[in-house]
Amino acid sequence: MRFLVINGPNLNMLKMRDKEHYGDLSLSELNAFIKKFCKEKCVKVKFFQSNSEGKIIDKLHAAKCDCVILNAGAFTHYSYAIRDAIECIKPKVIEVHLSDISKREDFRKISVIKPVCVYSVAGKGKYSYTEAIEYFIKS
Ligand code: DQA
Repeated sequence: MRFLVINGPNLNMLKMRDKEHYGDLSLSELNAFIKKFCKEKCVKVKFFQSNSEGKIIDKLHAAKCDCVILNAGAFTHYSYAIRDAIECIKPKVIEVHLSDISKREDFRKISVIKPVCVYSVAGKGKYSYTEAIEYFIKS
């Protein structure tokens, strides 16, 4: 089983962001945590991060895996282009967020990608990613 973890805009700056919402891991520390989890579960994982909407869409189109774990960052709330890309690719996509977007500002409560994802996990920090992977393994 192969996973692709895609992190969107500003997630490369994790260490510099609000720790209350995003925790204190850097993106490479977060990826190392996910990698270890995947090794234990005997599944393959690759990582991609971009601040640009088009690069995320290109990566989704080219995804060669069974499941994409996607933290689209702020694009979650308004990118119909990413939503459409998710809808037209073969791999299943699971939406993840470090913070609980349902309990934050009104604009964050909206996810335009949620309806085209098979599952969604938010508010569990680094465990949002592992819960998403676990969900797909078990499904
Ligand atoms: C986020 C939540 C988004 O609202 C925000 O723009 C992010 C990160 C999260 O992981 O909690 O960049 O996706």
